[in-house]
Parts: sequence; structure tokens; C-alpha cells
Amino acid sequence: MKIGLIGTGLMGQPMAIRLLGANVSVIAYNRTPDKLQPIADAGGIVADSPDKVIQEADCTILMLTDGTAIAETILTDKAISYLPHHTIIQMATIAPQESRAIRERVVAAGGEYLEAPVLGSIPQVKTGELIVMVGSTRDQFIKWCSVLKHFSPEPIHTGEVGTAAAMKLALNQLIASLTSAFALSLGFVQREGVNVEQFMSILRESALYAPTFDKKLSRMRERNFTNPNFPTKHLLKDTDLFLTQAEALGLDTSSLKGIRQIIQKAIALGLENEDYSAIYSAINIDS
Ligand SMILES: NC(=O)c1ccc[n+]([C@@H]2O[C@H](COP(=O)([O-])OP(=O)(O)OC[C@H]3O[C@@H](n4cnc5c(N)ncnc54)[C@H](OP(=O)(O)O)[C@@H]3O)[C@@H](O)[C@H]2O)c1
Repeated sequence: MKIGLIGTGLMGQPMAIRLLGANVSVIAYNRTPDKLQPIADAGGIVADSPDKVIQEADCTILMLTDGTAIAETILTDKAISYLPHHTIIQMATIAPQESRAIRERVVAAGGEYLEAPVLGSIPQVKTGELIVMVGSTRDQFIKWCSVLKHFSPEPIHTGEVGTAAAMKLALNQLIASLTSAFALSLGFVQREGVNVEQFMSILRESALYAPTFDKKLSRMRERNFTNPNFPTKHLLKDTDLFLTQAEALGLDTSSLKGIRQIIQKAIALGLENEDYSAIYSAINIDS
């Protein structure tokens, strides 16, 4: 089997390398060709267009930024002409309605479409321990599960297309909310002169604790947001996707709108390509 991979950024590149490490044949495309070099070095085939990937692969994994990038890459007239009998596995974070619309275009062109967004980041790609949520028919899930198992011990079928995208956005809303809530309390105890270790040991024993707090504690204390797995700009993208969808569903999104302002402030501070825990620096400005 030859697997196509379009989008070899922070996530797509290690995903391709993981497949190659399992002796799976990979053909990859990226808009910026430099990012394909590590894949070529690991034995992958480099394509000079997305069309070439679709033409040559048995299925194509998409790990692009957003719905616009997907449309510009695989929904061009030329790419669409190669879609009959081809399966697209869309693994980026996009909105449920975007995912359903892309499915319709792929199916109308004679192809098949699954969504398989992921929770986890580069370390979990490398160890094959992502949480992969799959929106598809049951038959598609059974057929493509072995491909997804390269990234997750147990891919989870959530229902039809749109359900996995919605699940992923609900989880990422928690990333924004939990991180901003923790950053605010951390900044508060620091400014009050409270012992941070003592605060953390009480928090760890309480029902309020979330493991992400300890994962981000040292970055926040040291204001070190370099080498991100998930940059602030992607947290803004996902927050916007959630807000649009949640408002359409009639939910009150006031709390998340406030967090969105903080994420935007972090971006205005030049932290868009830093780890998303940089929102701490927008909440607790270094004086
Ligand atoms: N990073 C994480 O921890 C993580 C975890 C779970 C889910 N995700 C989601 O997975 C997706 C990819 O994330 P990432 O961190 O790998 O992002 P990334 O490093 O920014 O990579 C984005 C990829 O999309 C390509 N791209 C963007 N716009 C394009 C366009 N108009 N035409 C063609 N290619 C385009 C980029 O190409 P260039 O290289 O040319 O810019 C790059 O290959 C996102 O939806 C993200 O929210 C990320």
C-alpha cells in the first residue's frame, strides 16, 4: 500500500516519517518544498503537486492548516479529476460543517472521504499514541483502521462525518479554557507572593486539577514558549471555529470570547508562532 500525505508541517512531517519507519510506502507533497527533505531522507517519495499524490497513492491523508488550505489543494479542477475511487482521510482540525462540505465535493467527484482529527501532538505522533477520532461510515472505518493504527493504538469511530470534527473542537475549546484559567490563577498567586510549589501541591490533590497544568507550568514560570508543538495561531484558529459553530447552535459563548481576546493579545505581542501557553504572557504581562 502507498499512502499519500499532503501537508508536511509540524504534524504532517513526523506522521510521514512514522509511516516510513513502519515500512509503509509514502508519497508526500508540501507547498513549501523544503519541509519535504526529511521525508525524502527517510525514504519517502516527494511529489511536486497534490494531484500527483492523489494519482499515485492508494489513499491520501490531509494534514493541512484549515478548510481553505484543503480546498486550494485537493478541490481544484485538476485534483478533483483524480478523485474517482480515491479515499481522502482528513486529519486536521476543521469545523464539522466544513468537513461535511468537503465530503460532499469529494463524493460528488466519485471519491470517498473520512475525517480523522487527532488529540495529541508531535510526541504522540512519534510514539503512535495520538487519540484519533473517526467520522465515517462503519465500513470505511473498518477498511482504513489499519492505516490509522500507525498513529493510535485504538482509533475511535464517533459516527458519521462531522461528529469527529465536532468532538475535536469541543476538546480544543478545553485547551483554550483550561490553559487560560490556569495562567490566570498562576499569575495571581505569583503577584500575591504565594508559594507556587505549595499552590501546585494543593491543586494537584484537588478535584480542580488537570494534567495540562503541570505540562505548562515550567514554560509559564520561565516564560519560555520556544519550540512549540501547537502554536498560539492554531489555538486562535480552533477557538474561532468553535465560536462560529457554538453560536450557530445557540450556545452562550461569552466566556470563550474573553479568552479569544487574550489569545489575540498574545499574537499582538508577537507570540503567534510560540507554544500556545504563551497566553500566560498576555494575562500576566512582564513588567
Ligand atoms: N500541532 C499540533 O500539535 C496539532 C495537534 C492536533 C491537530 N493539529 C491540527 O493539524 C493541522 C496541521 O497542524 P500543524 O501543527 O502541522 O500546522 P503547520 O505546521 O502550520 O502546517 C500546516 C500545513 O498546511 C500547509 N498549508 C497551509 N495553507 C496552505 C495552502 N493555502 N495551500 C497549501 N498548503 C497549505 C502548510 O504548508 P507550508 O509548509 O507551505 O506553510 C503546512 O504543510 C491543523 O489543523 C492543526 O490545528 C495540530
